[in-house]
Amino acid sequence: MPISRVLSGVPGLDPLIDGGFPAPSVILVCGPAGSGKSTFALQFLMNGARHGEKGLYITTLSERAEWMFRFMSAFEFFDPKYFENGTVSYVDIGDELADMDETKILRILRKKIAEETPQRIVIDPINVVNTYVKNYRQFLFDLVTMLKYWNAVTVITGEVKGNEEYPEDVAYASDGIIRLIMRNEGDIIKRYVRVLKMRGTMHSMSTHPLEITQQGIAVLKARF
Ligand SMILES: Nc1ncnc2c1ncn2[C@@H]1O[C@H](COP(=O)(O)OP(=O)(O)OP(=O)(O)O)[C@@H](O)[C@H]1O
Ligand SMILES: [Mg+2]
Repeated sequence: MPISRVLSGVPGLDPLIDGGFPAPSVILVCGPAGSGKSTFALQFLMNGARHGEKGLYITTLSERAEWMFRFMSAFEFFDPKYFENGTVSYVDIGDELADMDETKILRILRKKIAEETPQRIVIDPINVVNTYVKNYRQFLFDLVTMLKYWNAVTVITGEVKGNEEYPEDVAYASDGIIRLIMRNEGDIIKRYVRVLKMRGTMHSMSTHPLEITQQGIAVLKARF
């Protein structure tokens, strides 16, 4: 039986991954600060919402929803109507993280997902959780198992530090890894994207130029 696919919502990306993310799956979108992880994640949710798919945006940052909305409203893909009409829900677990163990965090997430029954889920960013849970690897394993139970595609964002290619713990548990790259070239910073892993998929092994504009994030045609 062919694997069903979910469109990423990022122009130029789906042809690189055989038509879209395999479903269900957990996809890690990683890169350094400012590489476009949150933009990617929101664009993915908004794309689903425009096709009538329910979305759930889970942040770990204890930030007020208005802050995220303010930044994201600059993008043409962002439409607050989908949050207002309940197609996409926003949940912040930042405050709960500090005084909860992994079982309770998973319980909260499971409850929220059961209530919303989203087809697309985002957890942005995951690495913050490492500060709070005792066994991060076990937590990630349990989280991914729980997420796969729901017939959804989940985008988990993770920050990479220094020369790291990807956050190893999360990469291990994910079905796919999209690496966002920022490279100094002379006086300017250029953006690229690489698909490092996509289970069940013949994916591109090249590094592709990427741009972030008012329209959002997009993969450009040229190949290196
Ligand atoms: N309208 C826009 N046009 C072009 N580039 C933009 C626009 N809005 C944001 N950007 C770029 O996108 C970057 C922010 O991307 P985003 O917040 O998605 O990154 P991130 O990887 O989630 O960062 P962090 O690790 O800090 O959470 C900005 O730093 C800026 O360079
Ligand atoms: Mg971010």
